[in-house]
Amino acid sequence: MTRVAVVGSYGVGLTFGVERVPERGESVIGDLFRTDHGGKGSNQAVGAARLGSVVTLLTAVGEDTFGDGALALWAEEAVDSSAVLRVPLPTMTAAILVERSGDNRIVIVPGALSALSPEHVDAFAPQIETADVLLVQLEIPLAAALRALEVARTAGVRSILNPAPAPPRPIAPVAEYLTPNETEAPTVAGARGTLVLTLGERGARIGDENVPAFPARVVDTTGAGDAFSAAFAVALAEGVSDLDAVRWGCAAGAHMVEHDGVVPGLPTRAQLEERLAVAV
Ligand code: RIB
Repeated sequence: MTRVAVVGSYGVGLTFGVERVPERGESVIGDLFRTDHGGKGSNQAVGAARLGSVVTLLTAVGEDTFGDGALALWAEEAVDSSAVLRVPLPTMTAAILVERSGDNRIVIVPGALSALSPEHVDAFAPQIETADVLLVQLEIPLAAALRALEVARTAGVRSILNPAPAPPRPIAPVAEYLTPNETEAPTVAGARGTLVLTLGERGARIGDENVPAFPARVVDTTGAGDAFSAAFAVALAEGVSDLDAVRWGCAAGAHMVEHDGVVPGLPTRAQLEERLAVAV
């Protein structure tokens, strides 16, 4: 069995549907409310576990009911959460106001995630060192993300940085692979590593090679990058060639965009193989 270590975020999305967002001092009655598991680290950990890797996750959640919900999700999805920190801060939440027109406004409170430090990553080093692949995103303090990549490099473990969300200033991390989308790519232009550029409905590019997208009836593109990075990581862990690993990523992304919500859209191994069998 392959092993993937993930250092990243967990958060809960609280979505409110409204005809229009309230003006200053105004209250409006909404017509939809939904809570969703999210956070790029957790999404990618669940995605890799569904594809058959043994996954261990380092993140931080609060000592609150959202933190309890996260642990229940990981137990259900067979993600090893024994290293997850519980801290006296609220679990990361995003309040998402969606107007009927589709426009949205989002407030994110990192809460517990702000406690994740390079020292916590050092304590997680044994899990990174025994993994086939380390997968990191940027929804956690940058110092913690960079330390995780450093631990992997020192141990000779393959690493993938999904530089999402885009950092406020350009960074030059050292990762074996980087998986930005077109918006994120300029922020890691100085990085060392193989660039795997995700291009949405145009597929992805690695070096000079273009990998076309798999056909998909798009419902919701949220989480496509998470599905891509998770599948790419599992493929590399299994020794698949770089080019085929990008195909795995595109197939997982196509599956995701056909589903509403992120966790429901992460493909199982059988669903991924079904997609990969479609000629593109
Ligand atoms: O990549 C999508 C994820 O980013 C969502 O699940 C949301 O939680 C944000 O973290």
